[in-house]
Amino acid sequence: MEDVIAMKNLTKKFGNFLAVDGLSLNIKQGEIFGFLGPNGAGKSTTIRMLCGILAPTSGTAAILGYDLLRETERIKEKIGYMSQRFSLYDDLTVMENLKFYAGLYSVPRKELSSRIGEMLEMADLKGREKELAANLSGGWKQRLALGCAVIARPPLIFLDEPTSGVSPTSRRMFFQIIRKMVLEGTTVMVTTHFMDEAERCHRLAFISGGKLMAVDSPDHLKKNVIQGCMLEINLPNGIERIKEIKKFPYIKECTVHGALLHVLLKNAEDVPLLQKELGCETQIITPSLEDVFVTLARQQRSESD
Ligand SMILES: Nc1ncnc2c1ncn2[C@@H]1O[C@H](COP(=O)(O)OP(=O)(O)O)[C@@H](O)[C@H]1O
Ligand SMILES: [Mg+2]
Repeated sequence: MEDVIAMKNLTKKFGNFLAVDGLSLNIKQGEIFGFLGPNGAGKSTTIRMLCGILAPTSGTAAILGYDLLRETERIKEKIGYMSQRFSLYDDLTVMENLKFYAGLYSVPRKELSSRIGEMLEMADLKGREKELAANLSGGWKQRLALGCAVIARPPLIFLDEPTSGVSPTSRRMFFQIIRKMVLEGTTVMVTTHFMDEAERCHRLAFISGGKLMAVDSPDHLKKNVIQGCMLEINLPNGIERIKEIKKFPYIKECTVHGALLHVLLKNAEDVPLLQKELGCETQIITPSLEDVFVTLARQQRSESD
């Protein structure tokens, strides 16, 4: 399949600070591509470059076959973008917001009412056309914002933390909408902090300190990124014992997951050693995406030291 986004050494410096450090990534048509990383990793900066809002310091990209540096305006016409601060007009109704964005994105007049109907249906907002945007709760607002952002039916959509601050139920609904759009051929690049959302992406790129640390499907990342043997341990006073556990020579990492500890051993042969030391049962587990991200972020920090 064709690449909808092809980044080549995409780089952004703010003064001397390297916010995005030579990203090369390809995203295919019909993918839900998750873009993950700690705060300040460079996710929003990358997306703003890909949308033609921010000029790269060096490197380039092809977006929908257009050259990012020379055909910026064409790209802006073709894409949808919903940022963390997507602005709905609070003092306009649901319908008025949709009409406003339809005008902004030059939806043809003869298609206006059918497009608005589609967006109302997609966002499950039928019957609430006359409500003020201000009166919608978080999840509804988010879906209306998505409807506004994609009313021109762009083939490529950038969503920058679209679900921060909304309930888990609303987040699931939001992703159902995205999946439907993708089945119809849309490509989606989305940033998120939520691991359940990351699991719903076809592929994930993990960046840290502006650098690409890994890119693969969620399953492959869980299988391949972490070298060693991951254990889950239910230990009374587990949190207080992390420091002590980390000092054992055969331990690579120890982190808290709810009431449990995740302990990474260099070798599976050392499991009995740890069991003896702690006097408790342990269970070998497949690492979670969260484990993967902890590992990659740590790796990037130690590389840059
Ligand atoms: N306009 C700007 N001027 C200076 N520094 C910026 C600017 N925008 C972002 N940064 C810095 O670039 C880094 C990456 O930011 P950002 O892309 O927003 O990260 P993320 O979206 O992954 O949290 C951060 O350290 C941020 O402070
Ligand atoms: Mg951001």
